[in-house]
Amino acid sequence: MKVGILISGRGSNFEALLTATREPGYPAEIVVVISNKADAAGLAIAKAAGIETHVISHKDYETREAFDAAMDEKLVAAGAELICNAGFMRILSDGFVAKWRDRQLNIHPSLLPAFKGLHVHQRTIDAGVRITGATVHFVRAEMDEGPIVAQAAVPVLPGDTVEALADRVLAAEHVLYPLALRLVASGAARVSGEKVIIQGEVAATDGPLFVPLPL
Ligand code: GAR
Repeated sequence: MKVGILISGRGSNFEALLTATREPGYPAEIVVVISNKADAAGLAIAKAAGIETHVISHKDYETREAFDAAMDEKLVAAGAELICNAGFMRILSDGFVAKWRDRQLNIHPSLLPAFKGLHVHQRTIDAGVRITGATVHFVRAEMDEGPIVAQAAVPVLPGDTVEALADRVLAAEHVLYPLALRLVASGAARVSGEKVIIQGEVAATDGPLFVPLPL
């Protein structure tokens, strides 16, 4: 399956996906990386890998719809069949989300539906929860909502700083996103009634990783 990636910054989740897609038999390949920020570090990773890149700045467009249409044009031209948001920090228009319904994934650094939005790790620490994690889900119009493909659980440790917790969750994200993309790209994961059903054998996983079991 041909995958387009949307980023806004560092691109470490994109890099984890890139590494995975180069494994023999992995059912997805990355065909284009689009950033809304020209200085996103992830762009250099993509260029070094010989992947088509585009900078599409939201500031160059008067409306969200026009910005999204510019991204859509590049995604379609590159032959993308699925989009992976990887640290993409813009809210998408309803039309774009509808067009790519069940064909767009996002990763969020919490156990959704807890801690949607920004400043996730600070709010996680402030709330005093003991377990947090990461979620890969299909994108819906509401921010950080949509059918959940896979989640990873990560402990919150006494005395955690935002940086320490973010690093621990990020390490889990880098395992989780390639797993989730594999499930979706292989056709093992599909949306049914706004939940994700996994068919067939669920891959062996590293660490405290939870995915929906086959029915
Ligand atoms: C990741 O932690 C990702 O989960 C988060 O931004 C970071 C991007 O890092 N995304 C969100 O908060 C989206 N709501 P990366 O650029 O190194 O992949």
